[in-house]
Amino acid sequence: MSADVEMIQVYIMGRPYKVPQGLTIMKAMEHAGYRLIRGVGCRGGFCGACATVYRRPGDYKLYADLACQATAEDGMYIAQIPSVPADRAPWVLTELDRNTNPILALYPEVARCVACNTCTRACPQELEVMDYIQAALRGDISQVAELSFDCVQCGLCAVRCPAEIVHYHVGQLARRVHGAYRAPQAAHLADRVREVEDGSFEQALDTLQKMSKDELVEAYKKRDVER
Ligand code: FES
Repeated sequence: MSADVEMIQVYIMGRPYKVPQGLTIMKAMEHAGYRLIRGVGCRGGFCGACATVYRRPGDYKLYADLACQATAEDGMYIAQIPSVPADRAPWVLTELDRNTNPILALYPEVARCVACNTCTRACPQELEVMDYIQAALRGDISQVAELSFDCVQCGLCAVRCPAEIVHYHVGQLARRVHGAYRAPQAAHLADRVREVEDGSFEQALDTLQKMSKDELVEAYKKRDVER
């Protein structure tokens, strides 16, 4: 490590470490020697695998963020939550009763919402989580789907909720129902499904399956992509 890199003190899972300033929490953990097997995925803020809580020195508040996005600060106390054991109701999309509000049937705890907004404050994506829970209560599934669209399923909302609502699972259910039954059907998708069913891609698939790994890598590099 070059001598002019400023080091900061962080506490990871209760242990003190010196790490270079400016790293994300995830990189600070790796610099400290943690080999992340759980609690890491895309490293880009999309997969929601790296939910983390932290506290700043002299501040009683517990903050939450994604470890791959938040910057480590001097004196930070950090703990990761690589998996949130929240209850996900079992459901099969095609078997849901579409004449009732499936959210209330599967997640009746949304009625316990006390509108404290803790879920919204916990969300690293800055989603209006409480607003979509209120929309769920009103049965406005499309609004829930829209407001929760950028959810990465990290579970931090559920971890902080005093009413023990599992917001992120509620949002996922609404997005599935909205996508299957309420959103306008995309014509290009219907065309592509028809092409798949007609076997238009069989020959191309067959060619790919016969390629060696090197040939596949080359073909991947030369693929047609939208720039
Ligand atoms: S590693 Fe995927 S969101 Fe952080």
